Amino acid sequence: MLARTTLRAIPRRAFSTSAPRQTKVAVLGAGGGIGQPLSLLLKMNPLVSSLSLYDIRGAPGVAADISHIDFPGEVNGYPADKLEDALTGAEVIVIPAGVPRKPGMTRDDLFNTNAGIVRDLAQAISKTAPKAHVLIISNPVNSTVPIVASVFEKAGTFDPKRLFGVTTLDVVRASRFLATVAGTNPQETHVPVVGGHSGVTIIPLLSQAKEAKGIIGDKETYDKLVYRIQYGGDEVVKAKDGAGSATLSMAFAGAKFANSLLRALKGEKGIVVPTFVKSPLFAKEGIDFFSSNVELGPNGVEKIHELGQISPAEEELLKAALPELKKNIEKGIKFAA
Ligand code: NAI
Repeated sequence: MLARTTLRAIPRRAFSTSAPRQTKVAVLGAGGGIGQPLSLLLKMNPLVSSLSLYDIRGAPGVAADISHIDFPGEVNGYPADKLEDALTGAEVIVIPAGVPRKPGMTRDDLFNTNAGIVRDLAQAISKTAPKAHVLIISNPVNSTVPIVASVFEKAGTFDPKRLFGVTTLDVVRASRFLATVAGTNPQETHVPVVGGHSGVTIIPLLSQAKEAKGIIGDKETYDKLVYRIQYGGDEVVKAKDGAGSATLSMAFAGAKFANSLLRALKGEKGIVVPTFVKSPLFAKEGIDFFSSNVELGPNGVEKIHELGQISPAEEELLKAALPELKKNIEKGIKFAA
């Protein structure tokens, strides 16, 4: 089942035998709830030639386990004191390290623990793999991405084209939830989700999804759908009842974003996905990081798309999101300073 799901996310031409550009990918936090299934999915991606799994707990075991799968590509696991070895030569680094939410917590409640974890990992990356593309999953993404940017800036290694906050789970949820209401195929239902990655900062642009045409005018259904996209993560936290937050759907989303980037790095054109990056879109309002549709290319961020035409209801969502997003970003930058 996992195999089929992943393989569907990967275009057929990715299987071309004409010497595809292959890449060393590192996962930091590989022993965790997200890290384990994410590493499994990355192992099955033909664009990943070498997988480097690091965690302060359990990564060598996960690596030994995954390495037995009969797909090409090598897998190595590194214990707590081998971060530098894990990072050496990595071109893409995915970070799901840190604590997840428990019922009643917001993503910002994770700040105190995760900010330090992400800062320390970023410092190590700036020394050992300064040219790597870095994908941040650790929450609160609205703050952890600015932390990593600040650490890289201080080290003189920051390239805004190579730092991404992974908001793909919001996009995946938006497709799924809209498809459920509209009776469409979620794989063919596309909703751009912009802003940030927490509560009101998550802005689904349903007016740009043709499948939402019949829903936009029905205020009750529209409001419910928007709320579910913004707070879908809470459904999982509640159902897991203290055992963590989304791990499997996040691993899927992380592998999906990584696959988009790997294809773009390889030279495939026209790959446009939402991601939280250093962005000029709301810089005038003092907001330097924002998620919008981004075209990916051989150097990472190729082009940041404008939001396009948005509805009056979406204008309101944007108005509610910006102050919260600004606060989250400033908190991250202040911490890193
Ligand atoms: P988990 O607790 O199951 O796993 C986290 C792993 O990080 C553990 O194995 C832990 O040993 C490891 N870790 C802690 N400190 C580390 C360090 N300094 N270096 C390397 N590894 C370290 O948590 P889970 O469920 O995997 O979630 C991880 C993070 O992802 C959380 O912050 C969570 O909020 C976030 N998340 C993000 C989502 C998104 O859409 N971006 C969605 C869901 C979760």
